[in-house]
Amino acid sequence: MAFLDKHKVIETNATLLMILSLLVVTIGGIVQIVPLFYLENTIEKVEGVRPYTPLELAGRSIYVREGCYGCHSQMIRPMRDEVERYGHYSLAAESMYDRPFQWGSKRTGPDLARVGGRYSDEWHQDHFTNAKSVVPESVMPPYGFLANNEIDGRYIQDVVATNRMAGVPYTDEMVENALADFKAQVDPLGDYEGLEARYGEAVFGTPINVRNFDGNPELTEMDALIAYMQVLGTMVDFSTFTPVANR
Ligand code: HEC
Repeated sequence: MAFLDKHKVIETNATLLMILSLLVVTIGGIVQIVPLFYLENTIEKVEGVRPYTPLELAGRSIYVREGCYGCHSQMIRPMRDEVERYGHYSLAAESMYDRPFQWGSKRTGPDLARVGGRYSDEWHQDHFTNAKSVVPESVMPPYGFLANNEIDGRYIQDVVATNRMAGVPYTDEMVENALADFKAQVDPLGDYEGLEARYGEAVFGTPINVRNFDGNPELTEMDALIAYMQVLGTMVDFSTFTPVANR
């Protein structure tokens, strides 16, 4: 056929094939990439998503330090089996304040994107101390030592300020009060009005968990990690959320 004869010219000439392939890939690339420059924002703003409180941020740092991402992802894909198991698929906005993001791709354990509120604080404490005590077939390593690591928050202001530098919209007030807010979140009998005023329901529409997360009087890494677990995936109210495409 005449058409195939013409194609043969390309197939038998390596230089021509290379130049034409490059041309095709370039056009394909431009078609994909250029529209992105004309979008104001590729992440749709979603009500309820707020920056992490200082204590949650500390918990997140422990999560990263311990390499929990090596066994756990934090991204529910929009497929039926995932949504039925874990809940509403993850929205880009839900990890917009994660520096760096924790989507991950390895699931030795389950996805944690919506683990917040699924278990009690006590369950988490038992599970971190000895996972087999609550899930007999578990292969998750023990993290009981976190309950012995007291943290005084001496670096928390720098952590918040660094996140702000990386683009998380912490206000001056949030940075200035980082240490006070850090301590206030584990002390429900103390004064946490400031924490509420900066991160609370009235500002972002999402309640904050203020409580002694591990039940012990000392503020430890266990408190911070549980505070982080309990906020994951809870910021957006999916009973009222409608994706832009369906509005
Ligand atoms: C060696 C792999 C491994 C590592 C590392 C690991 N986990 Fe797990 N995790 C698992 C497995 C497997 C399960 C499922 C069995 C169970 O519940 O213990 C699990 C379950 C969980 C659950 C319960 C989730 C659910 O929906 O039932 C939480 C929460 C959790 N892990 C948090 C963490 C945190 C936080 C860290 C880091 C401090 C961590 N894991 C590190 C393997 C791991």
